[in-house]
Amino acid sequence: LFLLQSLLFPLYSLSIHQTSSDDSTSPFPSDFFFGTASSAYQYEGAFSTDGKGLNNWDVFTHENPEKIIKEGNGDIAVDQYHLFMKDIQSMTYLGVNSYRLSISWSRVLPKGRNGGINHLGIKHYNRLIDALIRNGITPFVTLNHFDYPQELENRFKSWLSSEMQKEFGYLADLCFKHFGDRVKHWITINEPNQQIILSYLKGIFPPSRCSMPYGNCSQGNSNTEPFIAAHNTILAHAKAVQIYRTKYQKEQKGIIGIVVQTSWFEPVSNSIADKKAAERAQSFYSNWILDPVVYGRYPQEMVDILGSALPRFSSNEMMNLKRYKSDFLGINHYTSYFIQDCMTSACNSGDGASKSEGFALKLDRNGNVSIGELTDVSWLHIDPEGFRKMLNYLKDRYPNIPMFITENGYGDLQKPETTVKELLNDTRRIHYMSGYLDALKDAMRDGANVKGYFAWSLLDNFEWLYGYTLRFGLYHVDYTTLKRTPKQSALWYKNFIEQHVMNS
Ligand code: NOJ
Repeated sequence: LFLLQSLLFPLYSLSIHQTSSDDSTSPFPSDFFFGTASSAYQYEGAFSTDGKGLNNWDVFTHENPEKIIKEGNGDIAVDQYHLFMKDIQSMTYLGVNSYRLSISWSRVLPKGRNGGINHLGIKHYNRLIDALIRNGITPFVTLNHFDYPQELENRFKSWLSSEMQKEFGYLADLCFKHFGDRVKHWITINEPNQQIILSYLKGIFPPSRCSMPYGNCSQGNSNTEPFIAAHNTILAHAKAVQIYRTKYQKEQKGIIGIVVQTSWFEPVSNSIADKKAAERAQSFYSNWILDPVVYGRYPQEMVDILGSALPRFSSNEMMNLKRYKSDFLGINHYTSYFIQDCMTSACNSGDGASKSEGFALKLDRNGNVSIGELTDVSWLHIDPEGFRKMLNYLKDRYPNIPMFITENGYGDLQKPETTVKELLNDTRRIHYMSGYLDALKDAMRDGANVKGYFAWSLLDNFEWLYGYTLRFGLYHVDYTTLKRTPKQSALWYKNFIEQHVMNS
């Protein structure tokens, strides 16, 4: 049978052979970071404890409870504000050597830079950082993960104003000053691309500003808002890097980067038009942010299509972007999409078809062509090969810049009939993670310079519009008692890390 297989599928048997022999030599160096990731609003709770100010998500979820499934909000979340020692024990059990967390901006600066510092907030993060380090866990700290003081929205419309650059610079400076003696891995902003698409294009995240022609816009905001918000975000990032590099980095000796959401966009056919459309999709998604922070300019496809709707960097800003380049790129990656061209031929259906940019995301094709394995969540197709392609794409486009996989993981959608037993026996998550970690190994063997991998997420947590119904945790959380229980995937990840430590 084997002979027959080799004759019929010579490449297939060759690849089996290669994989098994390569597997004995782990591509992960001994200083590779294996961790889990989290964010303040999704984990902390304690929304008005110890002087914390209200942020955009507090206000959004309180004023529009119906917008979140089952009216969930982050008031309590998984209460990591109080239970962090327990969570550090879980990390120790897993054997991870790092933890990605974010600072709640309104916990340390309740009203932004004009409202004074909340020293109890600073004290909280000091305790958390100290406890992590005491337990041998390296903190990776994100300065901004979707939440900011509501005051900044009320005062000047947050990311739509260049004022936000100064505000963010102030937050960054404060954090470097207070935590930088121990924190050596800084992330400025989490997923500006995703945050802007959801907040200013589709208008489904606060501040709910929808831009035509997307979504169900009740207010027809200007088409340019997403690009203005992105522009301010990119410049705010550069400002934080500039502050770190000029005031702190020499002495503190850490590194600083940004995190973007990436998806692999596979052309739906081999036609040149579909291939170009897939390239445009990359440009309008992650290159939108990565090109400016690495090269100081927007992708050419964006400039060509958007013309004057795309803000320009002044020559000074461009110089600063290049001079204060990220030390690393943080890559969040979950899935792949098929892309079909809509520029030369009309797209028929296609979820998310974008006329101006000329491509359509092909989501669930109902039994037609589909990429990877479909799951209950429309944006979570399982396609490890797409991850490998993505990392190779990034390696070629941004050579020599180290990358961290700052998020990757699988979410179980909780249906009324789902039992806790099923959630704990999470074979699908193990299937997902083993596929993506194998793809990561392959990409590293291809030459991708990846320095760490963070599973999203340590615990089930507040998943934005899904509330508590989409569970990404390696640990199950009972939301009545807040009890954390390891799922099968926690044991699997622990074992995976152990193997790596043994082999390196
Ligand atoms: C990316 C975001 O950074 C995180 O907040 C979110 O929970 C995960 N994706 C899963 O959707």
